[in-house]
Amino acid sequence: MSLKGKRIVVLGGTSGIGLAVALSAAREGAALVVGSSKKQRVDEALSKLPEGSEGNVVDLSDSASIEGFFDKVGEFDHLVYTAGESLLLKSLESVDLAEAKRFFDTRYWGAYASAKFGVPHIRAGGSVTFTSGTASIRPHPNWSIVAGALSGMEGLTRALAVELAPIRVNVVTPGLVKTPLWGEMDSADREQLYKGASEGLPVRHVGEAEEIAQAYLYLMNQTYVTGQVLVTDGGGSLV
Ligand SMILES: NC(=O)c1ccc[n+]([C@@H]2O[C@H](COP(=O)([O-])OP(=O)(O)OC[C@H]3O[C@@H](n4cnc5c(N)ncnc54)[C@H](OP(=O)(O)O)[C@@H]3O)[C@@H](O)[C@H]2O)c1
Repeated sequence: MSLKGKRIVVLGGTSGIGLAVALSAAREGAALVVGSSKKQRVDEALSKLPEGSEGNVVDLSDSASIEGFFDKVGEFDHLVYTAGESLLLKSLESVDLAEAKRFFDTRYWGAYASAKFGVPHIRAGGSVTFTSGTASIRPHPNWSIVAGALSGMEGLTRALAVELAPIRVNVVTPGLVKTPLWGEMDSADREQLYKGASEGLPVRHVGEAEEIAQAYLYLMNQTYVTGQVLVTDGGGSLV
């Protein structure tokens, strides 16, 4: 089992976990297509990926943009969805409902629409791998919007695994990972977050994007797992 010669679409593949998936899959000999909303990020990702890799701008909060993206891409083998923005952490009392609903646009509806428009182009033996996060199983106070969207991804995964069979559908649920997602934080606060988290984690370090990428590679490569949530969190959900 290898990704050699497979064509893989990574939505959110221009940064963090998605870019690490793209680079790792390319090392196995896969042909990559990455997509995200900013042209500059798409170009930067392409400069890191092997020659011949493809990249297109797509707004994953807009279903028409997603449909157009897949019309251009054509046939492929595996779809990976890692797109997402910073977490919306608000109490039930203070949250604006329109803002809460918008949080689902990229995380949930973008993934849903990508399955709708992407799956018809997936070749036999292919798969879909979504992304969730441990907020689904271990939320803190004020994490209700995030927990709702991420738990939704896990239920959607199980439902699509039976609906789209024999295409396999799985979801990776990362814990804390060092990626540009945390780039808006003050750097001292970010280092404090990583230090505090690593001391409490059973594996004693915060995840690197390359470590999480291995979970996606496993789910694409193997052929007997579908409808599963692969928690990749250094044991964080246990402590
Ligand atoms: N890092 C963590 O600690 C962690 C923990 C648990 C779960 N996760 C989840 O893992 C996923 C990947 O996170 P990451 O840490 O790799 O984040 P990241 O480095 O910030 O990457 C996010 C990617 O999503 C793309 N994106 C965001 N909004 C988009 C939109 N509307 N349309 C198209 N592309 C869009 C970004 O590209 P553009 O800016 O070009 O749009 C970027 O390529 C997210 O769903 C995140 O919630 C992360």
